[in-house]
Amino acid sequence: MISIKNGEEIRLMKEAGRIVAVVLNELKNFAQVGIETQELDEKARRLIKSFGGKPAFLGYRGYPYAICVSLNSEVVHGFPSDQSITDGDIISLDLGVEIDGFLADAAITFGIGRVDPENQRLIKVTEEALYIGLAQAKEGNYLGQIGSSIEEHVKKEGFSVVREFVGHGIGKNLHEGPSIPNYSLPITTPLLKKGMTLAIEPMVAYGKGDIYISSNGWTAKTKDGSMAAHFEHTVLVTPQGGKVITSI
Ligand code: MF3
Ligand code: CO
Repeated sequence: MISIKNGEEIRLMKEAGRIVAVVLNELKNFAQVGIETQELDEKARRLIKSFGGKPAFLGYRGYPYAICVSLNSEVVHGFPSDQSITDGDIISLDLGVEIDGFLADAAITFGIGRVDPENQRLIKVTEEALYIGLAQAKEGNYLGQIGSSIEEHVKKEGFSVVREFVGHGIGKNLHEGPSIPNYSLPITTPLLKKGMTLAIEPMVAYGKGDIYISSNGWTAKTKDGSMAAHFEHTVLVTPQGGKVITSI
């Protein structure tokens, strides 16, 4: 069952989505060499509160922070810590916000200072893959068209999608059906319908894309130590394709 949201539910999700976008943008501007990643978490909590929202990740299955900060070869679910950002890092920030029981979820990746051009290309291709995928979140399309278009773009550019984590339906809960893999599957159903809300989130690695979970029980890192990037938007399925609701 994939829930269809009514107008009021969509309005709340858009409000949550706008807060996600504003906060991610503020954090991106604040992130620089010498900042400890836990300062980003503190700032996120303050900002979300000031906008009247709730951090959706905090306490979710015991996750202990408001945001995920994944540096370099960390793929997703990096813990904010006293580690400082350094020149040349690539950093992913992932954030979910709740407003009156409805959620939105998004992630961005960006480089700090003098970033290796190949890492810059990894970031660009991952963001492109997100937009290519969300264009397929169109009423009447099959769900599988999202993942196959993402995988095709990533492969063409010589990178790998990470297969252990997937996008998801979202609404009252952070993770609802359906699962949205970033690769093609033999079974491409169900059909997408207007009013579904999906979090589409390609995770892309420079190398092979195999991952392991680090000793904190959460953080996924690439096995080969290669860099990884992650972009995510919450979108509303419409006849024109996925309409991003996690933007300003
Ligand atoms: N965007 C990620 C996801 O959908 C972030 C979840 S972090 C968690 O899986 F702590 F909430 F799990
Ligand atoms: Co998500």
